[in-house]
Amino acid sequence: MNSDHVEAVVFDLDGVITDTAHYHYLAWGKIAEELDIPFDPSVNENLKGVSRQESLRVILDHGGKEDKFSKSEMEKLASQKNEYYKEMIQELTPEDVLPGIMELITEIKNENIPLGVASASKNAPTVLRALEMDHLFEYCADASRMKRSKPDPEIFLTVCEALEARPEHSIGIEDARVGIEAIKKAGMYAVGVGKNLEEADLTWESTEHLSWTSIKNSFLTKNSMARRG
Ligand code: BG6
Ligand code: MG
Repeated sequence: MNSDHVEAVVFDLDGVITDTAHYHYLAWGKIAEELDIPFDPSVNENLKGVSRQESLRVILDHGGKEDKFSKSEMEKLASQKNEYYKEMIQELTPEDVLPGIMELITEIKNENIPLGVASASKNAPTVLRALEMDHLFEYCADASRMKRSKPDPEIFLTVCEALEARPEHSIGIEDARVGIEAIKKAGMYAVGVGKNLEEADLTWESTEHLSWTSIKNSFLTKNSMARRG
């Protein structure tokens, strides 16, 4: 296999392909309000890329209520959040794909590079169908089968394996700090979208500026430098 070649591109979903990160924020906001816990975008930053149960723990912790609920009460709260979230995403249509994403995917597909999705969300298949994008990805990880959450690399390694791609020759795209950490731990090249993602190999302020040519060139330069030692 030619080592000067991108073997796979693996996308995060929420906050990269579509702005569902905002709906997760709104749905958790309702739960926080019901529990009388202060909630704002800075708390939400710690929830990006984090599983549903883990997000609830972060919110309860923030409100000093980490010991106040039994396991079954916590399950109820998490499933109530999911009900709010599912109601919000019912309105999703292909119009909700973030700017620049379809163009980027088209360019990657033109080079016959396989695409995958590594999302912590159990709602990922529903969201991809609503955006009419499910056919564009060769593989979407099943979040419910992952043993460890991001920043563990498990989900990115699982997608690379399914796509028969070597992680060091693959690219991951993320909007969450834990996601960038997971990509790096997997040994992949990390592209960050948004702020405070210094650990990424390359960052863009927003999806509309993503350029496949720049991503690919930067990835190839890094890989050839690594080969030369
Ligand atoms: C991630 C989001 O993609 O999925 C998190 O960034 C969210 O905010 C997580 O908590 C789990 O999503 P879901 O849909 O399974 O509750
Ligand atoms: Mg995300």
